[in-house]
Amino acid sequence: MFDVTAIRKDFPILSRKVNGRPLVYLDNAATSQKPKQVIDSIVDYYSNYNANIHRGVHALSQEATDAYEASRKKIQTHFSIAKPHEVIFTSGTTHGINIVAHGFSSLLSANDEIIVSQLEHHSNIVPWQMLCKATGAVLKVIPMNQEGGLDMDAYQELLCSKTKLVFVNHISNTLGTINPIEFMTQKAHQVGAAILIDGAQSCSHIRPDLVALDCDFYVTSAHKMCGPTGIGMLYGKEAWLEKLPPFQGGGEMIDQVTFEQTTYAGLPHKFEAGTPNVCGGIAFGAAIDYLNAIGFDAIAAHEATLLEYATKKLLAIDGLKIYGTTKEKTSVISFNIEGIHPYDIGTIVDKLGVAVRTGQHCTQPIMDFFNISGTVRASFAFYNTIQEIDIFVAAVEKAKMMLS
Ligand code: ALA
Repeated sequence: MFDVTAIRKDFPILSRKVNGRPLVYLDNAATSQKPKQVIDSIVDYYSNYNANIHRGVHALSQEATDAYEASRKKIQTHFSIAKPHEVIFTSGTTHGINIVAHGFSSLLSANDEIIVSQLEHHSNIVPWQMLCKATGAVLKVIPMNQEGGLDMDAYQELLCSKTKLVFVNHISNTLGTINPIEFMTQKAHQVGAAILIDGAQSCSHIRPDLVALDCDFYVTSAHKMCGPTGIGMLYGKEAWLEKLPPFQGGGEMIDQVTFEQTTYAGLPHKFEAGTPNVCGGIAFGAAIDYLNAIGFDAIAAHEATLLEYATKKLLAIDGLKIYGTTKEKTSVISFNIEGIHPYDIGTIVDKLGVAVRTGQHCTQPIMDFFNISGTVRASFAFYNTIQEIDIFVAAVEKAKMMLS
């Protein structure tokens, strides 16, 4: 039974005030808030068994290693990944993408093609541009349409024998569009290309089954899914991870080191140089436990109700335009009000206790497509309520009144 009032009690921050008003936190696409179960796992680690891992014979090191590796297994199970060593701990989505981009620099040749989409976050554009510059490969872009969806006919026309890699987000951080990643994966594989899916925005809403999806790489960040910042996951099929060279050199990623040459450790350690974010890894597991205890079906149902209600109420405001209107979308609403700068709306609603994001959301190509400088973005999580949406919409109406 989904009980949002009970769930909210797990999040200490949700009972604070901002500018003298109860906090209404609608910036969940930027980062989610943390339940006490996750905060407690961090306090417990540092209070009771903080140690470096994979290095010590002493009891604390063993305990910390066991907890960290148990978390890797939780992530494996959660995402239906075939083998635990296909889960690489990273500092977040951007790190995971850069590991793959760097790895492919030794596998691509001039005139090979790689495909990204017009809906990507800068973190899924810039590393590939750097890769193209280093290798002579050519970047192709799947165009978007007015609804904020991707043009699948254009995608199929771009795919050819030269295509080596495809990169697409599962869900757009700016528009909430859910992309047809199953179809895109099948089509990429038909021409022999690998596909990387950026799951930064999806994993708080959906539980992806990566074996069924059959993608080659999937990346995400714990902090969007109730975990801490500074920790994330790169999933890669074993054969790809074996083929890619390591991204960083350092301790624990080696097998043998001499001044003449170094051989590398096996997976996953080859990609985990240096002392890892032990606490973050453990807390990532606690966040996954927390979300699964609520259940992704219940999360999706509640968020769909919030999205529908907020969309209807916002569209009743004269001059308000929503960007991102595909049928398949998640609980993100980007909008503008005619004649008013998004930053001004964001500043006024903040004075009324409502946290939203304003600006380009690290997606300048989407802004260029709509010929706008930015949007106001409200992004809802399972712990938001209908009452909070009423407060948010009233705040937007007040901002409009003051700024018109
Ligand atoms: N990528 C994050 C966002 O969309 C920071 O806000």
